[in-house]
Amino acid sequence: MTTTLLDGIGMLVTNDPHGHAPSSGRDEWALGIVTDAAIVVEDDRIAWIGPAHGAPAADERHDCAGAAVIPGFVDSHAHLVFAGDRSAEFAARMTGQAYSAGGIRSTVAATRTATDEQLRAVVQGLVDELVRSGTTTFEIKSGYGLTVEHEARACRIAAEFTDEVTFLGAHVVPEEYREDRRGYLDLVTGPMLDACAPPARWIDVFCERGAFDADEARTVLQAGTRAGLGTRVHANQLGPGPGVALAVEMGAASADHCTHLTDADIDALAGSGTVATLLPGAEFSTRSPYPDARRLLDAGVPVALATDCNPGTSFTTSMPWCIAMAVREMHMTVAEALRAATRGGARALRRDGLGRIIVGGPADLVLLAAPSYVHLAYRPGVDLVAAVWRAGRRVTAGATGPAPGTGAGSGAGAGAGWSDRG
Ligand code: NIG
Ligand code: FE
Repeated sequence: MTTTLLDGIGMLVTNDPHGHAPSSGRDEWALGIVTDAAIVVEDDRIAWIGPAHGAPAADERHDCAGAAVIPGFVDSHAHLVFAGDRSAEFAARMTGQAYSAGGIRSTVAATRTATDEQLRAVVQGLVDELVRSGTTTFEIKSGYGLTVEHEARACRIAAEFTDEVTFLGAHVVPEEYREDRRGYLDLVTGPMLDACAPPARWIDVFCERGAFDADEARTVLQAGTRAGLGTRVHANQLGPGPGVALAVEMGAASADHCTHLTDADIDALAGSGTVATLLPGAEFSTRSPYPDARRLLDAGVPVALATDCNPGTSFTTSMPWCIAMAVREMHMTVAEALRAATRGGARALRRDGLGRIIVGGPADLVLLAAPSYVHLAYRPGVDLVAAVWRAGRRVTAGATGPAPGTGAGSGAGAGAGWSDRG
C-alpha cells in the first residue's frame, strides 16, 4: 500500500456539493469547491480530503502550490479505432462543402486494410492524447469495420484500452449492402452482434438521414438489449429527426449530438433518464450550428460533454477545448461545462462512482497549471494539465502500455506515450 499526499490545493473541485443549493450561484455550488485543501490517495482510492493544515502524513508528497485540482474528465463518446486520413475532407468543408454521413465509408475502406498492429498504434496514440489532456475514463466505439470480422476486431482492440466499449456496427450501411439494407440489418443484429457483444458494454446506432431510420435503429437497439448491452444513440445531429425520441423510448443511457431539437424532444429528455451528450467538436468541424445547451440545461436535462473524437467530424481528444467551446458557443457557464465533462460523462456511461472526488472513490485527478477551473475556458487552446492521476497512479509521458484499471491488459504497447509511473 502506497499513500500520496497532494497538498497546497488552492481550489479543489469535488463535484460533491454539501448543504442546500443557494438561489444564486447554483451552477458553481454544484462543483462542491473546497479551498486550501489536501487529498490523500491510498492505492487507487481517495482516502482522505480536508484542509491543507490538517493533512496526515503519507509516503509521498506532491505540493500543488496553490493550483486547482479537478476530477479526471469522463469522455463518454469517442471513435478511436480507425485508419486513414480525412483532412482533405475537412479542408473542403471549410471552403463550403457540406458534411454527409457517407464520408464514413472512406474510413471504413482504410480501416479494413489496416493490420491489428496499425489500429492498436492509432488507438494508443489517441489514448495518450486523451490522458495527457486530463481524461481518465473514456468510451471507445467500433463502427469503421462493418463486417463481422472487422467489427469484432475493433471491439476487441478497444477492450484492450477501456471497459467502456460500444458496438456501432449500425454506423452506416456499407457499400456492399447498398442494395440490401435488410440484409445488413440482419447481419448487425445477428452474427455481428454475437461476435461483438462479449467485449462490449454498449450498442449504439447512427439514427439519421443517410444512416438508419427510426424503425431500423429500434431493431438494432432491441437486439442489443436482448444481448445484454446498454443502449446509446447518435441522434439529431444533421437535422431534426426521430433519434432523441427513440433514445428516450428505449431508455438509452444517452442521446448524443442533440444538435437539432424540437420542444417535444427536450420535454421527452427532461422526463427521462437519458443524458443529452453534446459534442461541440462535431459542430466546429462540420461548420454547423451548435446545440442549444441552455434550453436543455434550463429544462433540467442532464447534459454531458464529450469529444466525439473521430477522423470525419471531430478529430480532437481535448476535453479542455470542448469545455471552452461549450462555454463560448453553447452558452454554458464554465461550472456547467466542467460538470458536464466529468459528472455528466459518468452519468452518460452509468458509472456513478466516477467524475467526482470523494473519500472512497477512485483517485482520478487532474492538477491544473492554474488557480481556478475557470481557466479551462478562459485560456482556450493552452495546455493547462500539469499532472494526471489515474486510479491513483501518476501518469506521465514516456512510458508505454495500457492504462491502469481498465481491465485492458494485453498487447497495447504500440505507442510511446502516457502511462503509469507507478
Ligand atoms: O459522431 N455521426 C456519426 N458518426 C461520427 C462521424 C463519423 C465520420 O464521419 O466518420 C460522429 O460525428
Ligand atoms: Fe460519434
